[in-house]
Amino acid sequence: NSIDKAAAITARKGNGKPISALTAYDYPSARLLDEAGVDVLLVGDSLGMVMLGFPDTTHVTLEMMLHHVAAVSRAVNHALVIGDMPIHTYNTPEQALATAKALVEAGADAVKLEGGVRQVDKVKTIVAAGIPVIGHHGMLPQRVLEEGGYKKKGKTEEECQAILEGALALQDAGCSALVLESVVPDLAETITSQLDIPTIGIGCTNKEKPKTCDGEIAVITDVIGSSPWFVPPFATTRANVAGEITRCAKEYIASLSQA
Ligand code: KIV
Ligand code: NA
Repeated sequence: NSIDKAAAITARKGNGKPISALTAYDYPSARLLDEAGVDVLLVGDSLGMVMLGFPDTTHVTLEMMLHHVAAVSRAVNHALVIGDMPIHTYNTPEQALATAKALVEAGADAVKLEGGVRQVDKVKTIVAAGIPVIGHHGMLPQRVLEEGGYKKKGKTEEECQAILEGALALQDAGCSALVLESVVPDLAETITSQLDIPTIGIGCTNKEKPKTCDGEIAVITDVIGSSPWFVPPFATTRANVAGEITRCAKEYIASLSQA
């Protein structure tokens, strides 16, 4: 069940084999990724940007998330399916619990929310109801408008202290694992060594330090090159699916004139 699946991810801490995580938003890609053997599939609120054409994740609603979580969960037999809690759906512990329950009802094994110390009561409330929670700290995309852009975190001593404190608080509140986004590699290493739960990083490495967390998460459209209009600088694109779609469409159009 979902609790055992989340516990199995937590138990990967320190066993040497990195946790593999990717985002997924629909049935066919989730099925292919699950069959390929990925450990974790996140129905991220990056949905809004890479699938629905919004400028950032602040436009995503719970209704949108439920629709996509359901599609992904129908496809998955092995991976831990995490559903992101959208902005403004976890303003209070009561609202957070209702949102988490809805995501689980739609098929998620676990839920993820953004932020550190200020989310502790919400994490505790959800975990107490038997729903595994994944934390998300460092750069918080749901705050992009307040912060005026996507900025690396951990460039000052105070910021490092606050993020480390938040990470420890999320662990103590009962999180099964922690996503760390765009923090400097040294801070990611420090947090990874201080926590007993796994860290899953995105944008937390550099050439000198290619591995700073217990696992890695990537946005699937960045990995396969299917949404090429914006690709973050830290992403590694491994295919040109956009180019293939264009080629197939052009061949199809041309074939009609040749028939
Ligand atoms: O929504 C998302 O894709 C995420 C990952 C970048 C961690 O939260
Ligand atoms: Na997200």
